[in-house]
Amino acid sequence: MQKAYFKGFGLEIFDTVYAPREDTELLLDILDVKRGERVLEIGIGSGVVSIAAAKRGADVTGADINPEAVRCAERNAETNNVRATFLQSDLFANVSGTYDAVLFNAPYLPVAEDPIWSAGENLEVLERFAQGLGKHLRPEGRALVVISSLTGIEKVKKMFEKNGFAVSMAGERKVPGETLYGLRIET
Ligand SMILES: C[S@@+](CC[C@H](N)C(=O)[O-])C[C@H]1O[C@@H](n2cnc3c(N)ncnc32)[C@H](O)[C@@H]1O
Repeated sequence: MQKAYFKGFGLEIFDTVYAPREDTELLLDILDVKRGERVLEIGIGSGVVSIAAAKRGADVTGADINPEAVRCAERNAETNNVRATFLQSDLFANVSGTYDAVLFNAPYLPVAEDPIWSAGENLEVLERFAQGLGKHLRPEGRALVVISSLTGIEKVKKMFEKNGFAVSMAGERKVPGETLYGLRIET
């Protein structure tokens, strides 16, 4: 476990959990959630994005495939004095209900062993996310998804378009060796 201070939040980062960095920062920069909105974060990691949304008065549910991330986010929500519901889930598998905003700082590398980084062969995690999103997004809702130039932006855009969504650019950030993209996805 390590301690971190990120964007005003004191955090404990459990050993197998993603430590927040530039991609997290980009998602926080484009986060436009309002008081009373229902927000779902997929891939919570340390929980910092969910915590920021809850601090703004949103009703937040967060999910991660890694049970350690769920425990880590619960701990960080408690120490930052916010309430949110966290659960273990492979994408939407254990999620119910519909949301005004769905957030996902996706594991975006096309190849890598570790699910923290890898979107799987043919970006299967992003493909499954695009397929499952419609069931959980309210008609006027939006998803905010962070990917990288290493993921292949056109391929990702097509995945969402194929599932009936429109994709626009909400923000981007250059980091050494890649550009991070914050996509806004709507029906
Ligand atoms: C890039 S990290 C983002 C963590 C955090 N949201 C942040 O911005 O710092 C991606 C997260 O997605 C989780 N993840 C990977 N595959 C997943 C899946 N199929 N379902 C749910 N979460 C998944 C990883 O465990 C990891 O916590």
